[in-house]
Amino acid sequence: MKIWQYLILGLGIILLAIQFVPNQLPEVSNENPQDLMGSGLVDGEVSNLLKTACYDCHSNTTKYPWYSYVAPASWLVAKDTREGREEVNFSQWTEVDMMDKLAILDDIIEEVKEEHMPLPIYLTMHSEAKLDDSQRQLIIEWAEAAMDIVVEEEDE
Ligand code: HEC
Repeated sequence: MKIWQYLILGLGIILLAIQFVPNQLPEVSNENPQDLMGSGLVDGEVSNLLKTACYDCHSNTTKYPWYSYVAPASWLVAKDTREGREEVNFSQWTEVDMMDKLAILDDIIEEVKEEHMPLPIYLTMHSEAKLDDSQRQLIIEWAEAAMDIVVEEEDE
């Protein structure tokens, strides 16, 4: 065999072998009574935008595409989903206290304004999650209004 054939064979064996590492994808749950979507704080277009552009990494309702079961892509998906949920999990919205809600909403404004979110690597595989200027503006205006509502709810 030629040296490049050995290299390809070696690579193939490695790719096959890493499939046996158990996947670490965070669990999916579709029963989330504390989800932002049921809280009354969001509806219409903004709720669709959040579900399409953010929920795979920031909720318990992640929709894993086929490649998320194939290493090494699975490692990346698992890491982003785990770290995304740790930062912000919309499925646990109603159990978060007021100050944390305000901090999350404020972070959302910043991340969306600066186009840090959705993560650029996610957009390479999910073109439907790309936000245009007016969609970003909708999310920002929603988050600003939601901050006022969160404070008012606390006063009641
Ligand atoms: C591919 C997964 C993924 C998607 C999709 C995604 N995020 Fe994130 N998000 C992450 C990860 C990972 C982190 C933590 C690391 C970081 O800040 O880069 C994070 C962090 C955040 C933070 C906290 C930032 C901070 O530094 O405090 C906010 C707020 C956020 N995301 C909002 C959003 C919003 C809003 C959307 C949708 C418009 C979104 N994300 C889409 C993965 C994602």
